[in-house]
This record gives sequence, structure tokens and C-alpha cells, in this order.
Amino acid sequence: MYLSRSRSGMETAMGSASFARQALTVVLALACVTLCAGSQGDFSNSLHFVRKAPKGHLPATHTRLARHPSAGPSAPEQIHISLAGPGAVAVNWVTPGPETSSSHSILHRLSRHLPIQLRHARLGRRLCPGTSIVQYGLESGVYTSQARGAVPTCYSVGDYDSGVLHEVVIGLDGPLPASTDIFYRVSGSGAGVWSEEYAFTTPPPVGPASLPYRLGVIGDLGQTEDSLETLEHMVASGPASVMLVGDLSYADGDHERWDTWNRMVSPLTSRSVWMFTEGNHERERASGVPSWLAYTSRFHLPHAASGSGSPLYYSYDLAGAHVVMLGSYTDHGADSDQAEWLAADLAAVDRARTPWLLVNMHAPFYSSNLNHLREAEAMRVSMETLLRQHAVDVVFAGHVHAYERSYHVYDGAPDPCAPIYINIGDGGNREGPDTHWLPRPDWSAWREPSFGHGTLDLLNSTHAQWRWVRNKDSVTAVDAADAVTLVRSECHMDRGAVDRAAAAA
Ligand SMILES: *[C@@H]1O[C@H](CO)[C@@H](O)[C@H](O)[C@H]1NC(C)=O
Ligand SMILES: [Fe+2]
Repeated sequence: MYLSRSRSGMETAMGSASFARQALTVVLALACVTLCAGSQGDFSNSLHFVRKAPKGHLPATHTRLARHPSAGPSAPEQIHISLAGPGAVAVNWVTPGPETSSSHSILHRLSRHLPIQLRHARLGRRLCPGTSIVQYGLESGVYTSQARGAVPTCYSVGDYDSGVLHEVVIGLDGPLPASTDIFYRVSGSGAGVWSEEYAFTTPPPVGPASLPYRLGVIGDLGQTEDSLETLEHMVASGPASVMLVGDLSYADGDHERWDTWNRMVSPLTSRSVWMFTEGNHERERASGVPSWLAYTSRFHLPHAASGSGSPLYYSYDLAGAHVVMLGSYTDHGADSDQAEWLAADLAAVDRARTPWLLVNMHAPFYSSNLNHLREAEAMRVSMETLLRQHAVDVVFAGHVHAYERSYHVYDGAPDPCAPIYINIGDGGNREGPDTHWLPRPDWSAWREPSFGHGTLDLLNSTHAQWRWVRNKDSVTAVDAADAVTLVRSECHMDRGAVDRAAAAA
């Protein structure tokens, strides 16, 4: 894959290398020219830009975060949809929990006098009374289909009792029609109580014929004024679906903040598919033991559909892309279950069906920011070779609260068969931007510590357009702060070319 800076006129026309060894040598040389030219470019960063001071969480009473005042005591809320395997979509939502006088709460109050280990053992995630129903159809107001979920769950941590957490997968008894508007509503906690109507468009059929397709990419979102600006800009970008590369709510143990965050995003997540991988802020500690209670209870993470034994890493096919979600905070050594699963998952990708191979993780392999420097080094060492071997096109990460895009890089050196790395951890959380950089390494093409989001337009099997959109730029701006055309090289289209390049080296 080669990059051409579309706005600066540095178009590179190098998309037609043959499979021959000599051509690959030429390609390597040309890529080096591109990289070296880039290092003299004036678009590498803009450190003069005056950044906003970090802001705290929005107040929980903010209109985007509070329970809707007109919603009755039984009304469902926090609705979001995600992919749940071929032709299937999961709908998750929350209804108010059991009354405080219920037996579980008495138990809960008593349990506060127990040692913390017993408290958590008793009050983790449990089944909760309730009914989960989604009614849906192809026409507004006409619900010809109905799907029921399993018994909902809820959980308690310390003084916090969650609402009832509902999940229903639709499209299990026959795949949903592709590229079709589905109108739906979800059940509340009282008989005959329903949400208002929502609608979303189902994904197109998997295959290059479904391109173009626009993905939104966002990281480290949080729930601040800046987070809202990011969402506003993302709505203007109009992606068909969204990938969030971890650090969602910054609840950090304050579980009410999971409810406020899900309310904040639900105008978007109830209307288009959002897919997640976890960040360090999703990791909790229960009795000193790492846990992912809120994250794994509130979100549908389709790991079983991709043969993964853990909700912390999984993959799915969407339009012309195979998308891998990796877990930075679960075992990732060379002989870990995750690495073994990743190798098998990548080996099974059919590039004729899903030419684009995208990987998401939270902690970046490549970042030249001083914050979190080399935190993912062990994971890079155990997994980077696999990513190159299977010609992954782009790796997205977050964690560092700044934007940075690399050239094609492998083990710190230019390599046209390796992925490019994009850090998009600048969603606008309460910790503020990470403004301190190392001297710019050769692999770093563009970096800036201001808030924003990205879009990846998969145009066809060979071309994509990446755009990074800054919050400080007008929401109606047609231009992006960083925009590049990605052109897949021969090695990204043909595994054999990677092996031939390796043999030639
Ligand atoms: C893919 O899209 C690019 C950019 O629009 C275009 O130049 C190229 O010809 C397209 N390739 C095919 C095979 O249609
Ligand atoms: Fe993080």
C-alpha cells in the first residue's frame, strides 16, 4: 500500500508493480523515496496549535447524560446495536432495576458488612427478572417480526445496582436482509411499555461488490464537552458504522458513568452499528482481581461467532473488510490463546471476499508520543510479524490522546508489505490531550495532539480514503486535517508476494 497526500498534490502513481522480484525491489526503493520525501514535508505536525485545557466529565444531570425526564419509570434506554455474526444484529438496552425494597437490595445492604471477597462473589453479574423483546419490521410502525432474548442480567458493585441489562439478537432464525432499513422498538420493564421507534440500515453483503463503505473510527471518547464535539463531527461525517478502539466511558469504577455514557452515545448507537475493543479504562478491579464486569455485561462482543474463546478479542466481516479486535490487556504472548487465535483468524481470511484487513487494539505498537511510550512493546514483539505476514492493511489504536499516522513500518523500519498504524485516541476524554512528543521518527507521517475522529472510506478492492477530522475545525468543513489515499500494494493483495519479497531479502 502506498500513501498519497491528496491535498498537498504529492500524488504517487505506484499502483501497478508486477509480482516479479525486481518490481518489488523497485517498489521498496520507491517507498523509501516516498518516506524520505515525507520526512522533509511540512505536514508532520503542528505543535504551535494552542490546545484546550482538559475538561472534567459533563455533569450527570446534563441533558445528554441524564435519564430522559419524560421517560416513565419503566421506559427502556441506552439502546445500541452491534454485529452478532453473519446476518445477525444484537440489540442491547437497559430498563430500571428492581425496587430498592426488593430482597436482593436487602441482601445487598447486609452484604456491605461482609468481607469484600464475599461481597463480590455474591453481587457480581446475576440473572434479573425481566423480559427482553425486540419487535421489528421493514416499514415504520409495522412490526412483522419479534425476537426474545434470554433472561436479562444485572450486577452490583459496592453501592451501585445496575438497571436490568437486556440483549436480543435478531436475525438468528434466518439472516436479516442486507442493506435494508429495519424499524424496531424494544420492551420496557412494564407490560405493554415500549421504547420509541428506532431504525438502522443492515450491513451490505460481505464482498468487494459492497464497496464503497464508510467506517467511522474513534478512540478514548469519555464524556466531556469535547466528547460531544467529537460525536457531532462524526455525525456530520456520516459513517455507515463505527469502530471504537477502547476507553469508552472513563467510568473508572463509578458505574453510574456507564449509564450516562450509554445515554450520551445512544442517539448514534441505536441507529448504526458500533463495534468495540477494550481499553485500560474498561478494566476494573473486583477484590483485587482484574474484571471486565461493566464492559462484558453491557456490550455484545461477538467472539463466539469468530471462534474466539474470549470477549476481549474477536473478528467479523463487514462489507469488503475483515476486522480484527485485539485485546491489549489480556494474555498476548507468542504462545497465548490470543496469538494462536489471531494466527488462525488471519490465515482464514479470503482477500477476494474481504480485500481489506483491518486490526484494532487499544495500546499502539507505534507512537512517538511520550505518554504510554512502548507500553505495547511485548505485544508488538509477539504479534507484529503475524500482521505483516498476513499483509494487514491498517492497524488502529488509541490510548495515546493524540492523532498520529505512520508510513508502512515493520520493526521500526520502512516496509511496503507491513501495515500502516493510525492512533486515534483523541476522542476527547477528561484526561485531556497528550502534547509531548519525541523527536519525530522516520516512520511517523503526521501527528497532532488535538481531538477528533477519523473515517475510512473503503472505495474498492485497492483504494481507500482515510481522513482525520479535527473538532476545532468547523463541523461543516468539507476538508480533513489529514487526508490520504491508501492504495494496496501487490503484497497486500497476494500473500505469495510477501513470501517472495522475504525470500528475495
Ligand atoms: C478504485 O478506486 C480508485 C479511486 O477512486 C480508482 O482510481 C480505481 O480505478 C478504482 N479501481 C477499480 C478496479 O475500479
Ligand atoms: Fe487508554
